[in-house]
Amino acid sequence: MTLTGTDALQRAVRRIEEARALDAPGTALRAVAGRLTRSNEMKNALSGTWLGHRLHPLLTDVPIGAWTSAAVLDLVGGRKATVGARRLVGFGILAAVPTAMAGLSDWEDTYGGEQRTATVHATANAVALLLQVASWRARRRGHGLRARTISAVALAALAAGGYLGGHLVYNQQTGVDEPPDDLPQDRWYDTVAFDQLAEDRPHGITLDGVPVVLVRAGATIHAICGRCTHRGGPLAEGTVDVRVIRCPWHGSEFRLDDGAIVRAPATTPEPAYETRVRDGLVQVRARASGDRGAEASAPGS
Ligand code: FES
Repeated sequence: MTLTGTDALQRAVRRIEEARALDAPGTALRAVAGRLTRSNEMKNALSGTWLGHRLHPLLTDVPIGAWTSAAVLDLVGGRKATVGARRLVGFGILAAVPTAMAGLSDWEDTYGGEQRTATVHATANAVALLLQVASWRARRRGHGLRARTISAVALAALAAGGYLGGHLVYNQQTGVDEPPDDLPQDRWYDTVAFDQLAEDRPHGITLDGVPVVLVRAGATIHAICGRCTHRGGPLAEGTVDVRVIRCPWHGSEFRLDDGAIVRAPATTPEPAYETRVRDGLVQVRARASGDRGAEASAPGS
């Protein structure tokens, strides 16, 4: 591709990012996504929390592979490949449903220009899906030429959606998680006075360049990494409810006991640290690998 062509594509993407007209359909889509991901179980399943990796990019391979294979059969398979091509188109349609659901869940965690790009990406893919449904029906009725033509147009829509999907991941870092921070030294760090910590109120500190959030829950002090593993949100500005901290940016929730994910979009748990109280001072250190460690309790409790 010439430099001019690349410039034109990048200009088109910038226009999409700045097109505020796309915010209106975004609002409607947010309501649908909110209903879909209301339960933690569904949000975690669609985000890929159970996989430790985002689910949507993995699923996209299935419909893209099926529809591309069908197009190859359309081109070079001849009459014998008619049934095989139709089945591949149908399989791609079935696979596109969970793929779109996972994509909608990821879309829900985008904002501004990133979300506008994601809206157009989703629209292009939805158009491709509808065209493939039309192609599959035409294939069943024996309208081979029409079906092949519709599938070719669907692949063009899919390519446009794929270009924007690549832009979302590689340029805008959508779905790219933050690597978890751990304390670099194997020692107890002095932090703050026990009395300085208010009940269920996150308190942010930095130890050796690592943000840490301390939370007092009754007589217990919890300490976990203060940078959200989803996209680096400040957990010290989050909220705490029943020993679970919620990120202020996209609502990931982590258990304070061990940093485990309660609710996606995060797919990587937070490192949790060991705590103790010495002479009224809260001390923190990294937990030994595989050790659930301990949280400090108030002296005398
Ligand atoms: S940064 Fe996205 S949920 Fe925390």
